[in-house]
Amino acid sequence: MLLQFIQGTYIIAGVLFILSLAGLSKQTTARLGNIAGMVGMGLALVATIVHSVYLSAEGEASGARLSVWLTLGLIVAVLAIGAAIGIPIARKVEMTQMPELIAAFHSFVGMAAVLVGFNSFAVPGESAGGAVHLVEVALGVLIGAYTFTGSVIAYLKLSAKMGSKPLTLPGRNWINLFGFVLFFALMIWFVLAGEQNPTLGWILIIAIAVIGFLLGLHMVAAIGGGDMPVVVSMLNSYSGWAAAAAGFMLDNNLLIITGSLVGSSGAILSYIMCRAMNRSFISVILGGFGVDTGTVAASDAEQGEHREIDAAGAAELLWNAKSVIITPGYGMAVAKAQYPVADLTAKLRAHGVDVRFGVHPVAGRLPGHMNVLLAEAHVPYDIVLEMDEINDDFAGTDVVLVIGANDTVNPAALDDPTSPIAGMPVLEVWKADNVIVFKRSMATGYAGVQNPLFFKENTQMLFGDAKDRVEDIIKDLGNLA
Ligand code: TAP
Repeated sequence: MLLQFIQGTYIIAGVLFILSLAGLSKQTTARLGNIAGMVGMGLALVATIVHSVYLSAEGEASGARLSVWLTLGLIVAVLAIGAAIGIPIARKVEMTQMPELIAAFHSFVGMAAVLVGFNSFAVPGESAGGAVHLVEVALGVLIGAYTFTGSVIAYLKLSAKMGSKPLTLPGRNWINLFGFVLFFALMIWFVLAGEQNPTLGWILIIAIAVIGFLLGLHMVAAIGGGDMPVVVSMLNSYSGWAAAAAGFMLDNNLLIITGSLVGSSGAILSYIMCRAMNRSFISVILGGFGVDTGTVAASDAEQGEHREIDAAGAAELLWNAKSVIITPGYGMAVAKAQYPVADLTAKLRAHGVDVRFGVHPVAGRLPGHMNVLLAEAHVPYDIVLEMDEINDDFAGTDVVLVIGANDTVNPAALDDPTSPIAGMPVLEVWKADNVIVFKRSMATGYAGVQNPLFFKENTQMLFGDAKDRVEDIIKDLGNLA
């Protein structure tokens, strides 16, 4: 009876996770989606604890399992350690550090799958054993090990503790192919001989883990620059498959459902982002496969003179404009400028100016980064448009405000085939009558590429912290009103 209740709770939690994903697909239902996910996770946690205690109680009489109290004690200790580490990190993390935090968390999922794999080989459950179980262990350990080192490298790259340039070893595709062939050979050996000869089995499973660690290191190090957004969602997907593999090894249906949901939604997101950046999905997931090793950063050669504008000049242009488009980027997140930007938007709209936002799919450092910030500042959803929806409207727009964006508005992506971001669709802001770029210096953006937009005749630079400059404009608008 209790077991049926636990399985029923798992199914309800699985349905809530699916509803959560459906809710998160639209801004208007995202809050509900989050609540569904939290309730599902709460139910799953309670059911898992009850399940473990039930199994302990069942096995306690025969001495086959830990006592109920020891099981409960271990669960509480693990929860306390996790909370003690997780709560302070979650409280102090900045929105701009979220991608690196997510990458670090994915590494824990990967390591957990490796440890579950080792444990499942050492102490197979009652229903485990046999060839299928050994294949699950080998796959779980490989995916987990790959996810662990891949996520650590992604963390180092995203937090700028390691250069974001791709590592392009000679013959790197052959190295990867050799790694996978070796894995398959070892897996077959493990399945055939692992159970009869446990010492050999341990040697083989540890060798499989080492192959996974090395492949993760090499393949993620080979992805860099503008392809890093895909790495975040791809590792998200791998962490889901690692969890699903752990679910098979532990015979836990909920872990299989949850892992598959995370794995497939991460894969779909990676695919969508590759399409948005005009990159081949296969070439990105294979670690830069097919990328021309001769590609170099576009030259920083003198592009000409840039022009500057002050806040008062920008305020005057905006006050006299009929249509304005704001294209936010990573700098808006760094400056936390979304609140004054929302304020400026409200003031201009009240004056009768048509203000809209153009959001590039990889603006910022997280999928949906700009949408989250704008929603946080209560910018109405209906004026926040995707790149495809707004790109044809720049021609004929009076003023574009580029607030802390750089790579996502770089015309070199379309004009310069040698540029590392060549082929990536960008917001074609330069087609507007006036472009004002908010940034602190002439420095390059994430991809390290010079931006010819800054030197165009209709572009003016407004230097300084984006939040301070937008606040200055709001003050100057007060003088014009
Ligand atoms: P970026 O190209 O990263 O440029 C951001 C600009 O903001 C910089 O040029 C910087 O110039 C400026 N900035 C920084 N702090 C500022 C502040 N306080 N005030 C004003 N300006 C400030 O931004 P983007 O256009 O959003 O492009 C995103 C890039 O990140 C793409 O290359 C994308 O591939 C990559 N990426 C995206 C993701 C996802 S999922 N979105 C994940 C990883 C990587 P100054 O230093 O001169 O101020």
